[in-house]
Amino acid sequence: MGWQQYASKILIDEQTLQKRVAELGAEISRDYAGKNLLLVCVLKGGVVFLTDLMRQITVPHRIDFMAISSYGTGARESTGVVRILMDLSSDIQGQDVLIVEDIIDTGHTLEYILRLLRARGPASLKVCCLLDKSERRQANIEVDYLGFSIPDEFVFGYGLDVDELYREVPVIAVLDPRYYDQTVS
Ligand code: IMP
Ligand code: MG
Repeated sequence: MGWQQYASKILIDEQTLQKRVAELGAEISRDYAGKNLLLVCVLKGGVVFLTDLMRQITVPHRIDFMAISSYGTGARESTGVVRILMDLSSDIQGQDVLIVEDIIDTGHTLEYILRLLRARGPASLKVCCLLDKSERRQANIEVDYLGFSIPDEFVFGYGLDVDELYREVPVIAVLDPRYYDQTVS
């Protein structure tokens, strides 16, 4: 029992995830040397990625959090309706902001966040996203640092939830399609 019963397969194993996160951290460390790096984690899905990524970043940086909702509970597809549930605690003016997201799907969530944060006058604004379902893109968004491109399947683990559960799973797993219209427990 446990999360394995809901997974049709493991898409990305722990070692592959950790290796890619280390590569992204090294790249970000090179690019942000001497800058005012602020990592903005998009809750809740981005939190596991953030905590691993920040420990691979060797330049001094701050972190902050914002919470956004784009899927209704139980939904397996993005609605395109984005709501801000919790705002940042700090002013980002003059900061080199790097948004840390779990996954980009239609792109509506990131488009909304980028528009919101750009208006606050950061010195720079970029996106670091672990997963990209590019087949489903509707908004024209550029991801500056990308972990993996993945097919259009509902995934969970490593911060991503199924019905708010299994964010702690250390791999990216594909949800068995038989749970697309069933709540997991
Ligand atoms: P977008 O607005 O369509 O790009 O959706 C992005 C958000 O939808 C992400 O931040 C996730 O929270 C959620 N999401 C998209 N695909 C998945 C998935 O396969 N599993 C879990 N959450 C997902
Ligand atoms: Mg999310």
